[in-house]
Amino acid sequence: MAGLIDMSNTNVAKYGVVGNPISHSKSPAIHQAFALQTQQDMCYKPFLVSVDGFEQAIADFISSGVSGVNVTVPFKEKAWAIATKLSKCAELAGAVNTLSFKDGDIFGDNTDGLGLVNDLKNNYGFDFEGKTVLVLGAGGAVRGVLGPIIQENPASITIANRTLSKAEQLKQVFAKDYSISTSGFSDLDTRFDLIINGTSASLNNELPPIPEVVVGSHSVLYDMMYSNQTTTFNQWGQALNAGNTIDGLGMLVEQAAEAFYIWRAIRPATHEVFAKLRSQ
Ligand code: ATR
Repeated sequence: MAGLIDMSNTNVAKYGVVGNPISHSKSPAIHQAFALQTQQDMCYKPFLVSVDGFEQAIADFISSGVSGVNVTVPFKEKAWAIATKLSKCAELAGAVNTLSFKDGDIFGDNTDGLGLVNDLKNNYGFDFEGKTVLVLGAGGAVRGVLGPIIQENPASITIANRTLSKAEQLKQVFAKDYSISTSGFSDLDTRFDLIINGTSASLNNELPPIPEVVVGSHSVLYDMMYSNQTTTFNQWGQALNAGNTIDGLGMLVEQAAEAFYIWRAIRPATHEVFAKLRSQ
């Protein structure tokens, strides 16, 4: 596995992304662009790992001198379990997307939530302070982003999910930091400033069955998924004249920038990389 990494140049720091599948991943292109922009001597490669081979792959990476890896589906929970030290954000997220190997430790972080928050704040000028936030879904993707959203101190956070008990479980995970409200989809009856779709419904071009009343002319709709076309959720928002509709491509670039910062202590500029990916 890690033998695929070119060890001939020992001066080049080695990174990669681990997943299954992995061939579709945009992370190598993003990190290579960041490395070029910030003039870092590093390489970053995709690694396809068998579903039961994650722990062995990590051991191989460490013994091959790899400095860190991003982790994607289906290994984020396994990465959380294998980490010897976790950031608070990763601890609460129950999942890790960025591993760093240093001095015998495996540091686990989760940059997905900061990626979403930074995208909204820096690229769209959205200020969370005083805003009402509706989060649709209560799976791993939502758990991964709630911590950084809470840090932004919005006026309220409501989690709505098809299975209400899962929303209530998430509420408990974050109860020490924030008082989250929960709801079934059909019980929603007010407008929200920000509506984040964290359900996996979009993957099947489906829409979570939420009442139209949640969308006002000022509402920002954020689909954590991205695609070449406008996502089903964002099409729905546009038909209702929502204030703005944003997909998850910016979040992808921003979470990568945060991972890059963790590894290299340099924060790359993201606009150019985002624009290039969008145009492809
Ligand atoms: P992920 O890692 O992408 O978050 P997950 O943990 O399986 O995947 O969570 C998927 C989320 O999408 C859940 O909140 C799920 O709702 P349930 O908890 O009721 O299963 C939600 N979801 C999936 N398909 C959906 C659909 N068609 N309509 C509404 N919600 C859907």
